[in-house]
Amino acid sequence: MNLKKTILITGGAGFIGSHLVRLYVNKYPDYKIINLDKLTYAGNLANLKDIEDKANYEFVKGDIVDADFIHDLFCKYEFDGVIHLAAESHVDRSITNPTEFIFTNIVGTTNLLNAAKFIWKENNKENLFYHVSTDEVYGSLGKTGFFVETTPYDPRSPYSASKASSDHLVRAYYHTFNLPVVISNCSNNYGSFQFPEKLIPLFINNIRENKPLPVYGKGENIRDWLYVEDHAIAIDTIYHNGKIGDTYNIGGHNEWTNIALIKVMCKEMDKRLGRKIGTSEKLITYVKDRAGHDLRYAIDSTKLQEELGWKPSLQFEEGIERTIGWYLENEDWLKNVTSGQYQKYYEEQYEKR
Ligand code: NAD
Ligand code: TYD
Repeated sequence: MNLKKTILITGGAGFIGSHLVRLYVNKYPDYKIINLDKLTYAGNLANLKDIEDKANYEFVKGDIVDADFIHDLFCKYEFDGVIHLAAESHVDRSITNPTEFIFTNIVGTTNLLNAAKFIWKENNKENLFYHVSTDEVYGSLGKTGFFVETTPYDPRSPYSASKASSDHLVRAYYHTFNLPVVISNCSNNYGSFQFPEKLIPLFINNIRENKPLPVYGKGENIRDWLYVEDHAIAIDTIYHNGKIGDTYNIGGHNEWTNIALIKVMCKEMDKRLGRKIGTSEKLITYVKDRAGHDLRYAIDSTKLQEELGWKPSLQFEEGIERTIGWYLENEDWLKNVTSGQYQKYYEEQYEKR
C-alpha cells in the first residue's frame, strides 16, 4: 500500500472540516493534506492555527463552483483521494436564499466529481471520492423508528434537498462511470469551532450575553447529537476501510428534544458563569416556528459499528461540558466571528420573528 498520498479536503476551514484536517495532518505525516475552502462566512482559518505551519499541510483558497479552477487544481496536484465537506450547511439560510445552496452543494459537487473522473482515468485502487452528507436527506421521522442506509430519501428543506441531490450525483458517478466513491450521512454535530448560527453555539453565545434564547415552535423537535471529533474519527475509519460504492450512517444514539437540551445548557452555563441556577432558563423565548421544521431525526449506525468497528467515544454529558468550556475559554474566537456581517444576519433571522 502506498503510504504517501495527496488528499484534498474541501471545506476544511469550516466546523467539521477543521476537525478532520487537524486529525489527518497530525495522524498521517506521510499524507499531504490540501485544504480547499472559499472562506465564506462559515470558513475561518483561525480554526486551524495550531496546524497551519505543518509541512504536510497546505491551504488553497477557491470556490468549488468554479469548474475551470477545480479542473486545474486536480491537474496540478493529482490528488489520490478527495474528502468533500464544502457546503452551504445551515437550514435557516437555505430558507432565506435557496439558490446559493444549489450552486455550492449541487454544482460544486458535480465539478469535483468531473475533475476526479478526469484525473482518475486509470481507476487506481487507491483513489477514493468520499462525500460527507447529512441524515436530513432522509426527511423527518415520527416519534419512533430510525434512519437506516436504505431509508428512501425524502428531503424537505432546500438544504437537505441540495444535499440529497449531491448524494444522488455521487452515486450516479459510481454506477455510470465507475468512479470510486463512498458516502456517509451523519446526525447533528456539536463541539468547538462551530459557527454560532446553529443551535448549540448560538445559545451558548446568547446565554453569555444575556440575550433571549429563540426556541422555534414548542421546542419539541428532536435531534441526535454527535461530538464532532467522533464524526471526524468515523470519516477516517470509512475513508480507510469503507466499501467502495457503499453508504454509512453515522450517529450518536443520543436523542434530545430541543427544549430538554437547552435546559441542560442553561444549567451548565449558570454553573460556569457563577449565576444562580435558573437564571439562564429565564432567557428562553418561544418564537415563530421554522418553515417546514422537521420533527425528528434519529440514526441507526449499526452498519458502521458492526462492519467497521466505529462507535462514539464520548458521552453527551462530557461532550457538552467540554463544548461549553471551549466557547467560554475562546471568547476572542466568538467575538471575531460574531462581529460585522453576523449582526446583520442575526437581525434578519431573529429580530423580525
Ligand atoms: P460549515 O458551514 O461549518 O463549513 C462549510 C465550509 O465550506 C466553510 O469553511 C465554507 O467556507 C466552505 N465553503 C462553502 N461554500 C464553498 C464553496 N463554494 N467553495 C469552497 N468552499 C466552500 O459546515 P459543517 O457544519 O462543517 O459541515 C461540513 C459538511 O458536513 C457539510 O457538507 C454538511 O452538509 C455536512 N454535515 C454537517 C453536519 C452538522 O451537524 N454540522 C451534520 C452532518 C453532515
Ligand atoms: P440547527 O442547529 O439549525 O440544526 P438542524 O436544523 O440542521 O437540525 O437546529 C437544531 C434544532 O434547533 C432544530 O430543531 C431547530 C432548532 N433551533 C431553534 O429552536 N432555534 C434556533 O435559533 C436554531 C438555530 C435552531
